[in-house]
Amino acid sequence: MANVFFWLLLAFMYLTLQWKYNGAEGKLSTESGCKLFYRVADCSHLQLLSVPQNLPTDIQELLLDFNQIRFLHKNSFLRYHDLTNLSLRSNRMEFVEPGAFNGIRSLKVLSLQNNTISMEYELTSAALRLTPSLKELDLSRNMLTMDMVSVLHQNLTSLERLFLDNNIIMRLDQTVFEGLVHLKELSLQWNYIYEIEDGTFEGLVKLKKLDLAYNLLPCIGDFRLTQIQMLNLSFNNLEWFQSQETDVEFHLEILDISNNQLLFFPLLPRQHRLHTLLLSNNRMRFYGDIFGTNTSRADFLIVENNITSVTTVDLWSDDIHSNLSTLHYLDMSHNQFAFFPHGFFSNMSSLAYLKLNWNCLQVFSVSPSNITSLLDELDLSNNELLELQADNISPGILSLSYFNLSSNNLYNLPKNIFTSMTRIHTIDMSNNPLHLCSQSELRMGEGKCVDVRNVPSLRRLYLSGCGMELGLQRVFYGNTLTHLDLSYNNIKGITFLADTARTLQSLFLRSCLAFNITVDFSVFMSLTVLDISGNALTTFPASLTGLALHYLDLHNNNLISLPLYNTQRLIGSLKIVYISNNSFDCCELGWMNVLIHSIRIPDLQKVTCSFSNRYFPVWNLPESINHSCQWTNGGPWLYLLLTLPVCLTLLVALLLLFLTFKQTLLQTVKRRCRRSTSY
Ligand SMILES: *[C@@H]1O[C@H](CO)[C@@H](O)[C@H](O)[C@H]1NC(C)=O
Ligand SMILES: *[C@@H]1O[C@H](CO)[C@@H](O)[C@H](O)[C@H]1NC(C)=O
Ligand SMILES: *[C@@H]1O[C@H](CO)[C@@H](O)[C@H](O)[C@H]1NC(C)=O
Ligand SMILES: *[C@@H]1O[C@H](CO)[C@@H](O)[C@H](O)[C@H]1NC(C)=O
Ligand SMILES: *[C@@H]1O[C@H](CO)[C@@H](O)[C@H](O)[C@H]1NC(C)=O
Ligand SMILES: *[C@@H]1O[C@H](CO)[C@@H](O)[C@H](O)[C@H]1NC(C)=O
Ligand SMILES: *[C@@H]1O[C@H](CO)[C@@H](O)[C@H](O)[C@H]1NC(C)=O
Ligand SMILES: *[C@@H]1O[C@H](CO)[C@@H](O)[C@H](O)[C@H]1NC(C)=O
Ligand SMILES: *[C@@H]1O[C@H](CO)[C@@H](O)[C@H](O)[C@H]1NC(C)=O
Ligand SMILES: *[C@@H]1O[C@H](CO)[C@@H](O)[C@H](O)[C@H]1NC(C)=O
Ligand SMILES: *[C@@H]1O[C@H](CO)[C@@H](O)[C@H](O)[C@H]1NC(C)=O
Ligand SMILES: *[C@@H]1O[C@H](CO)[C@@H](O)[C@H](O)[C@H]1NC(C)=O
Repeated sequence: MANVFFWLLLAFMYLTLQWKYNGAEGKLSTESGCKLFYRVADCSHLQLLSVPQNLPTDIQELLLDFNQIRFLHKNSFLRYHDLTNLSLRSNRMEFVEPGAFNGIRSLKVLSLQNNTISMEYELTSAALRLTPSLKELDLSRNMLTMDMVSVLHQNLTSLERLFLDNNIIMRLDQTVFEGLVHLKELSLQWNYIYEIEDGTFEGLVKLKKLDLAYNLLPCIGDFRLTQIQMLNLSFNNLEWFQSQETDVEFHLEILDISNNQLLFFPLLPRQHRLHTLLLSNNRMRFYGDIFGTNTSRADFLIVENNITSVTTVDLWSDDIHSNLSTLHYLDMSHNQFAFFPHGFFSNMSSLAYLKLNWNCLQVFSVSPSNITSLLDELDLSNNELLELQADNISPGILSLSYFNLSSNNLYNLPKNIFTSMTRIHTIDMSNNPLHLCSQSELRMGEGKCVDVRNVPSLRRLYLSGCGMELGLQRVFYGNTLTHLDLSYNNIKGITFLADTARTLQSLFLRSCLAFNITVDFSVFMSLTVLDISGNALTTFPASLTGLALHYLDLHNNNLISLPLYNTQRLIGSLKIVYISNNSFDCCELGWMNVLIHSIRIPDLQKVTCSFSNRYFPVWNLPESINHSCQWTNGGPWLYLLLTLPVCLTLLVALLLLFLTFKQTLLQTVKRRCRRSTSY
């Protein structure tokens, strides 16, 4: 009896519950379609016209993004006292009535992103003034101008984060951020700011992060925001960045001036804490070669309020160069550096990552006297390097783990350069006119070759497009590579791989195998990724069937068929295979069924087969081809069917002939008889 009562009670509770429970995700949903998760209500994408009033009163976060709420009326949130986070993104909202946030005790985070509050911004401003504990406000994408912004955040002194991205702000003056004394983060990306008046950010004493990316700033002439830790100036038109010459310590840690028009290395504060400096995609170089070896002064003509003044700046010299000993990450890729002044890198004693790719360097030195030996990653790809210098190196002195030298003109490297790096993991020397040393070459002395033998830490080696000839020489002796790219070279045999065959996991042999070579892949026991595309292969290498490959690229060959019927190991492991641009026989496509069902063929749309010298798409083979194939290889029954009508015709013809002949015979006999028989 008690049991029945218990079940009844349970059923009753279930029925009175307003919320449905979707067990799996731990989510509840309301009648209005909102999803509830702990104290968060997600009512996004519900085409709501107003704030739903049937949510639990204790919610803390309410998401109303992508609805059609055009106004927030007075007392819209009266029930939701505990609300701290409110998001109303993308609603076409025109204004917020003063008093809209009545009842909310302490609204902390508010997003009005992507609305049209510029229409009645004064009204909205009055509403915002009644949220005294607001810490984060997002007004991005609202067509706001500078004047509107200064009205909108009036008296929001508690603000710590303010987002104004994608508006139409063109200038910033002293008044615009007045009073935001607690502001820590300010984002102004994607505006049209071309001018920032002196003193605009000075009052923001707590400001740590300032993002001005994607604006139209032409130069920063007197940077003096000592409080800022992170400054993003990327994607502007900056030709020049100069900090105030003062011994006051700047808190700057991250500076991003990438994707501008910088002509000179920026003049950084003397005292700072910079650890990340991003300067890629500019037009920087040093002009010492033009001005004479030890002067690097430049005169700047400054026209301000039609007063012209000339400032002479020393762009680079040992003594004025700021202390860059804290710098950890330096990206100067995609610039026009042809050289660096003597000692440029030597004071960067903490430098770990250096990117100098896409410049015009012809010589670079990795000697410990020129650059810190603590460097971890160095990218020198896409320069014009003819020479890499490495004086005074001894085994283990360099701590590089990643070294990219691809696309240069190197045919030689200092001897023992790689054995001096005990941590080296990845080397990319692709697209250099170099070749690898073998034991015999070294024994003969002065070999113009690169020695990559006996580098036990090396795992990934890229050597594509070097024009090398590889065959019998043991150029990888003493290595345990896992990843090797030898594409676009000339491989005449693969004995040279024997030293590292067991450990290789990825092997790229694109367009490099001699036409008559037969490769035995069975020794590559660990191989999972193999690219042998573009090699004019006519038969599928049988030794592959014993490997557990995940990825196989066979496109651009001359394969006629893929004999994959009884190759459980290969088929069981393969996930991706490329096979387009081969010479598959349309009548021998049985193997396609094996592939298509279990393996992804990304280039399937491009796979063709040939039938009597014409090419047809394999994925959509015309039915007629199938028929024709059946005729050509249909077996004895088809032959019989084909020959039967002919035989029959012949038989009938013979019979007729015989009959005709028989007729005349009879007649002659008759005639003869008639003649001879006279009664
Ligand atoms: C409110 O927003 C802030 C910042 O976006 C976030 O860190 C916090 O977890 C949110 N609080 C709740 C209750 O969702
Ligand atoms: C802005 O909101 C409109 C609807 O009001 C929506 O169509 C659009 O995708 C939103 N844009 C972004 C970037 O969110
Ligand atoms: C806003 O702050 C100013 C002073 O900065 C004060 O005079 C004014 O009364 C404040 N307005 C409101 C609505 O709090
Ligand atoms: C600066 O802004 C750009 C554009 O949004 C972004 O790609 C870059 O990562 C930012 N830089 C830093 C250091 O965050
Ligand atoms: C280089 O500097 C030294 C001393 O600082 C000076 O004597 C010499 O003339 C300078 N050379 C050039 C080419 O300016
Ligand atoms: C400076 O600008 C003012 C207007 O702002 C103009 O009247 C004056 O002629 C200008 N002076 C010169 C020297 O161009
Ligand atoms: C550079 O700065 C570091 C740390 O801030 C300091 O230890 C070092 O002495 C400074 N070097 C010079 C030459 O000022
Ligand atoms: C740079 O290093 C040199 C020694 O290599 C030292 O004499 C000089 O003072 C350093 N400069 C700075 C700014 O640290
Ligand atoms: C490297 O350092 C040596 C010795 O300090 C110096 O002679 C050479 O010019 C430096 N090379 C570069 C490229 O700075
Ligand atoms: C080396 O640099 C080139 C060009 O900058 C890049 O394409 C390649 O992926 C890099 N190599 C490695 C191993 O990261
Ligand atoms: C491949 O052909 C070349 C030249 O025709 C010949 O020298 C070489 O011995 C052949 N290699 C094999 C493995 O047949
Ligand atoms: C097909 O492969 C051959 C090499 O086998 C290559 O020369 C040709 O350009 C490739 N065609 C296409 C369309 O990729």
